[in-house]
Amino acid sequence: EPEIIRDKDQMRNWSRAMRSQGKTIGLVPTMGYLHDGHLSLIREAHDHSDVIVVSIYVNPGQFSPTEDLSTYPSDFHGDIQKLKAVPGGVDVVFNPHNLYDYGTNRRSSVSNGEAGKSVSCVEEKGLGHETWVRVETLENGMCGKSRPVFFRGVATVVTKLFNIVDPDVALFGKKDYQQWRIIQRLVRDLDFSIRVIGSEVVRENDGLAMSSRNVRLSPEEREKALSINKSLSRARFSAEKGLIRCKELTNSVIQAINEAGGRVDYAEIVDEESLEPVEEIRSPVVFCVAAWFGKVRLIDNMEINI
Ligand code: PAJ
Repeated sequence: EPEIIRDKDQMRNWSRAMRSQGKTIGLVPTMGYLHDGHLSLIREAHDHSDVIVVSIYVNPGQFSPTEDLSTYPSDFHGDIQKLKAVPGGVDVVFNPHNLYDYGTNRRSSVSNGEAGKSVSCVEEKGLGHETWVRVETLENGMCGKSRPVFFRGVATVVTKLFNIVDPDVALFGKKDYQQWRIIQRLVRDLDFSIRVIGSEVVRENDGLAMSSRNVRLSPEEREKALSINKSLSRARFSAEKGLIRCKELTNSVIQAINEAGGRVDYAEIVDEESLEPVEEIRSPVVFCVAAWFGKVRLIDNMEINI
């Protein structure tokens, strides 16, 4: 049975106590509505640390006012049940109500977790938070283009979580490839002594990358969404057969997704570290895609090493 901690000072004290016992701490940050992708990060965390903290916090800082914060799915009790069933278990679930309320003069109705979410973005409420972490080059492309405040919100909340939980190891999924690279860079650039581990993409049997957003797809949209993984797999196969010109590969993926009835936000083949687009595949790259199916925006990617 995981201990549920909602208060940041209590969280800090717990981590201090663990450290004084010589235990190493693993952190798996999440926004809840847990699925097997999240659970595989937790299983992997057991290989790298003695005790495990899973944070569940739908971070208003990474949603713009027009995005899906208010419809982001949540099921706190269901999440706890799933965590209980993970082999080795989880020691703490850190579920703060609000990481941007510093008890200053303004009263706000911002809340999270069980109490629900009632703010569309941090600045809108003028909560007095004004410090943001930006990873200036890596955050510009791909998801950063269509979601301008997204990575600044992610980098900032992850920095806050690192400061509060003080983990030795933190695990992130390569499903959100750009996010993983951004966190790696911020840890290096800001001298956090935290090992960042990237974990493989977990998929449904039919290839769809697991995501908390998948439940918002209608059965028809879900069927159409299979075109992402299918076309990416075909592109990798072509690349392995010698087709290394990226324009042709990205065009084939865009066409396949459009024909299936999706709307491509971007399809780019980028260097695996710099995330800069490449013209030809001559070193390890990752083929990243974001596409809309109805009101749901999905992302996926495939690493190509030839
Ligand atoms: P969330 O989307 O809940 O994802 C939490 C972690 O699970 C991330 O590291 C994500 O990459 C990983 N993950 C999600 N789906 C996965 C899949 N199918 N296979 C492998 N890993 C998967 O990402 C976030 O939350 C937030 O941006 C967060 C980092 C918590 C900051 O708020």
